[in-house]
Parts: sequence; C-alpha cells; structure tokens
Amino acid sequence: MKSSFVMVFAFILPIIRAQVPHWGPCPEPSVQLAFNLKQFMGRWFEIAKLPAQFEKGRCIEDNFTLTTENSFRVSSSEVLKGEIRKIDGTGVVQDPKHPAKLGMSYSYVLPYSPYWILSTDYVNYALVYSCTDILRIFHVDFAWIMGRTRTLPEATVWKAKETFMNNNIDVSRMTATKQQGCDKTL
Ligand SMILES: *[C@@H]1O[C@H](CO)[C@@H](O)[C@H](O)[C@H]1NC(C)=O
Repeated sequence: MKSSFVMVFAFILPIIRAQVPHWGPCPEPSVQLAFNLKQFMGRWFEIAKLPAQFEKGRCIEDNFTLTTENSFRVSSSEVLKGEIRKIDGTGVVQDPKHPAKLGMSYSYVLPYSPYWILSTDYVNYALVYSCTDILRIFHVDFAWIMGRTRTLPEATVWKAKETFMNNNIDVSRMTATKQQGCDKTL
C-alpha cells in the first residue's frame, strides 16, 4: 500500500512541478458552442500561457491538420536557445456530443490530456484549457491564448483573460510568449 502511494507521487510530482496546482477538483468551464474542428485547423501562434516556463521558448506555434472527421495531427515548434525545436502530437474529439472537448497527446505511450476549446472565432483567437484532477484532492492546469497572428490587440488579450476568470480559472500568473524576431529566424 505504502509503496504504491510513493510510486504514484514519484510519477505525478514532475507533472505537478510543470503545472500550477490548486486545491479542489477541476473547474467546469463552458466551452465553445457548436465547435467546428475543421475551421480550427491550420496555424496558430501562442500569445500567452499558464504557467510560465523556466526555460522560455520563443516563437511558439502549432499547426493543426485534420486526419479524419474527428481526429487531427499537430506539429508544434518553438525557438529555444537559437534552435528550432519541433514536436508532433495527435488529437481527437473524445465524445461527439462535446466536440469542443478535445483530447491531445504528444506521445503514443501517454493517454490523451484534455484540450478544451473554451472560445474561438476561428479567424483571430482561441482560448484553450487543460485541467487534470489528482486524487480528487487538487488539480493542475494549463491555459493558452492563441492567435492566428503573432500578436493580438491588447483588448482581445484582456477579454480572453476575463473569459478564463469568469470560468473560475486563475490566470493571474499567465505570461506573454515572445513572438518578436521570429519570421527572420524561421
Ligand atoms: C501545416 O501543415 C500542413 C499539412 O502538413 C502543411 O501543408 C503546411 O505547410 C503547414 N504549415 C505551416 C505553417 O507549417
């Protein structure tokens, strides 16, 4: 009993460190109504994210490609210490009744993590949220503001943060992603 408990903690601790832990279960935010996966595909730039990372990548972007009606591939890239790093993942609509509640994984040995589209107009911005309950005692979460362009107007970013806050998601520690000097580098 005791050793399996230790093993669980050995497994989840690195995850917890990488994310923001909060007491209690995950919030239940409302998601984009009538979400259209096809319209969401294509290139998105990371405008801001939660939590901040210690090793800060710049020029972070995702390129989504539909593979079937309900699944997609994502190719993510960033510039870190002057080098372009890429990672590929896959995603699915896990329940057709909730098309905005996507699941995503960057490794075929890992299960899908929640990747919920809280709000998007498909052509300017998208708000993404991922939350995981741990032992039903606390939860860890990720949040992203994404844009079709490398920067978004201040007002759009503020409205996005307000939407997260209205859904009981704490974005006070959200940080802007550097998207300057990217097109020169890439
Ligand atoms: C995104 O992926 C598609 C399909 O693989 C590819 O044709 C396109 O060039 C990619 N776009 C960017 C910006 O990487």
